[in-house]
Amino acid sequence: MKQTGLGFGSPHGKNTQGTTHRSTSKTLLLITLTLIILTVIPLYFPFNKFPSLSSSNHPSSTSPDTISPANHPHDQLITIDDNHHKCDVFSGEWVPNPNAPYYHNTTCWAIHEHQNCQKYGRPDSDYMKWKWKPDECDLPVFNPYQFLEIVRDKALAFVGDSVGRNQMQSLICMLSRVEYPIDVSTTKDENFKRWYYESYNFTLATYWSPFLVKFKEPSTDDPTLAGIFSLYLDEFDNAWTNHIDDFNYLIINGGHWFSRPSLYYEKGQIIGCKYCQKDNITDYPMTFGYHKAFRTAYKAIMSRKNFKGVVMLRTFAPTHFEGGDWNKGGDCPRKKPFKSNEIRLEGSNLEMYLSQMEEFKWAEKKAKDNGLKLRLLDITQPMLLRPDGHPSKFGHWPNENVALYNDCVHWCLPGPIDTWSDFLLHMLKMEGRRSAEGKLYSKLIKV
Ligand SMILES: *[C@@H]1O[C@H](CO)[C@@H](O)[C@H](O)[C@H]1NC(C)=O
Ligand SMILES: *[C@@H]1O[C@H](CO)[C@@H](O)[C@H](O)[C@H]1NC(C)=O
Ligand SMILES: *[C@@H]1O[C@H](CO)[C@@H](O)[C@H](O)[C@H]1NC(C)=O
Repeated sequence: MKQTGLGFGSPHGKNTQGTTHRSTSKTLLLITLTLIILTVIPLYFPFNKFPSLSSSNHPSSTSPDTISPANHPHDQLITIDDNHHKCDVFSGEWVPNPNAPYYHNTTCWAIHEHQNCQKYGRPDSDYMKWKWKPDECDLPVFNPYQFLEIVRDKALAFVGDSVGRNQMQSLICMLSRVEYPIDVSTTKDENFKRWYYESYNFTLATYWSPFLVKFKEPSTDDPTLAGIFSLYLDEFDNAWTNHIDDFNYLIINGGHWFSRPSLYYEKGQIIGCKYCQKDNITDYPMTFGYHKAFRTAYKAIMSRKNFKGVVMLRTFAPTHFEGGDWNKGGDCPRKKPFKSNEIRLEGSNLEMYLSQMEEFKWAEKKAKDNGLKLRLLDITQPMLLRPDGHPSKFGHWPNENVALYNDCVHWCLPGPIDTWSDFLLHMLKMEGRRSAEGKLYSKLIKV
């Protein structure tokens, strides 16, 4: 089941143990509650009270389309639109959006070199001009004022690989019309950045953990292990797990690194590998390590008894190599999105997605018992439709010697990854509704 609707009804709705009579009256109670809630909830949300922004607060921007609270009145209210109860926002189509993009490489400094596609001569720009249209509802375009209002006094971390960093940089650019963060990193290591939005007391951080579990870079002393990572599949990666409690939101991701040659360890012993080409070590498919790594990551989160935040799994972002693998001349030269009936998730993209969904479901069951809030930022299908959004050969100069010459993994900025912020904002709003409903629910139950 996709986690896109409201959680309110489901835990109760699934209770089939009572008699018919009891469940009927329960249903009635639920309906009544829902009605009350739908009427009362707007009172709980101060989101329409945006701080009025003086123009001095705006980064002097040449961005083509500046959203301000004034010209986007509809985004300011949480529309209590019953559609959202049913709407799967992750199922839909890309539609043209002449107003995009909302920033440019000249107005946002946070764009990573390898994703600055315009700088490196990408000739087309239509790939920036789309927005996501869910089949059964609308997904509002990101409103940075509303986002920052919701995350005021909170902290959010991205945990995972460089696609997670890609998302964070996109978010910084999407927020840059309101405010740029200051660098409050505690280390010089670019893989562990910490950004602070002063006016909102909002902290944004990235933790580099490409396998989500403890790992070691390939050994340089043992030539027989050249290029082989060591993954400790049952051990927490303390680089991020020690900091879980610092955050209100954790967005975890992982996937692309699991195709690398790796030795798999459990209880400190080698239990197998992926592409290690050793006669006496079992070679497993990459989903073997992937499953176990996710399970360990969820265990790490659940082991933090004081953690009250929301955990989002940002699902696997498909790659779009055509005509060969990443290291065999594959490329992603397309210039426009697919329609949903033109492509299906298959091959390793599908395997990765299914594996992480299985682990997510495992964690969801456990989470019910310990109250962990676990959600899906289920971008796999929308991004499957965006073969045109990758840097391809425009992530570097033509003569540069880079590992990933045609990059069909990361996403150009601006580009389709900016839509992840639309999804994220939508989910944060849903979270607000859930907690308001929760508060109201417990009040009513006490009466
Ligand atoms: C931005 O992109 C343009 C091409 O559209 C390029 O000439 C310029 O160098 C880029 N600037 C930065 C700061 O990346
Ligand atoms: C800023 O936010 C943190 C939580 O991220 C909170 O503990 C702290 O009290 C806030 N500071 C102010 C001045 O509100
Ligand atoms: C595999 O064989 C090598 C020697 O050929 C040995 O050093 C290593 O410990 C063996 N690994 C396992 C998992 O048995």
